[in-house]
Amino acid sequence: MTENFSGHVRGPKTDEELIQDAMHELPYGIYVIGSSSGDRPNAMIADWVMQVSFSPRLVAVAFERDSTNLANIRANNALTINLLDDDSMELARAFVQPTSGAKVQGRSGEAAAVQHDKLAGIEYRRDSRGCPILDDALAWIGAEAEQFVEAGDHIIVIARVLDGAVEGSSDPLTSVITGWSYSG
Ligand SMILES: Cc1cc2nc3c(=O)[nH]c(=O)nc-3n(C[C@H](O)[C@H](O)[C@H](O)COP(=O)(O)O)c2cc1C
Repeated sequence: MTENFSGHVRGPKTDEELIQDAMHELPYGIYVIGSSSGDRPNAMIADWVMQVSFSPRLVAVAFERDSTNLANIRANNALTINLLDDDSMELARAFVQPTSGAKVQGRSGEAAAVQHDKLAGIEYRRDSRGCPILDDALAWIGAEAEQFVEAGDHIIVIARVLDGAVEGSSDPLTSVITGWSYSG
């Protein structure tokens, strides 16, 4: 039995809830994925990011199908992966909101039409493929998409690593530090 904050006692957790709890325990890095559409760079928070091959050096990122950043990467194959340092939670917050207002639940009309510029007020430079590298990144990786793999409700982009560098000396920001969960 569990008791919630309103004092209501509820029955044991369902199998679905038990699975979700277990999935929430998976630890992740918190990354800012950068992309570009012509003159317009973009970025988003992602934690489903991993290296998947040594030679060639490949990384994989799982994207929601309606992600603006995924659309950019489909158009020109270019992306960056920015690692944040462990005291950069405020910086990470700037990238949580989707580009399209329509993607935020409950928004309609004018609010849904808003295109949110997540990079406004953020210091960054653009790599040779136009993707943002954050000035405050702990490290960054530049990559070129080679495969787009259907995976349930996400698309896994497998990308060849072309360049990268470590810029700081802190530990990386992770879901263990933020307490944010994108799993379940
Ligand atoms: C902690 C956290 C982790 C996330 N991880 C992912 C992820 O791995 N893949 C993904 O597509 N979206 C992920 N999201 C959701 C995207 O950041 C969100 O949908 C984003 O704003 C999409 O931006 P875009 O539409 O500009 O591409 C995550 C969100 C949070 C808060």
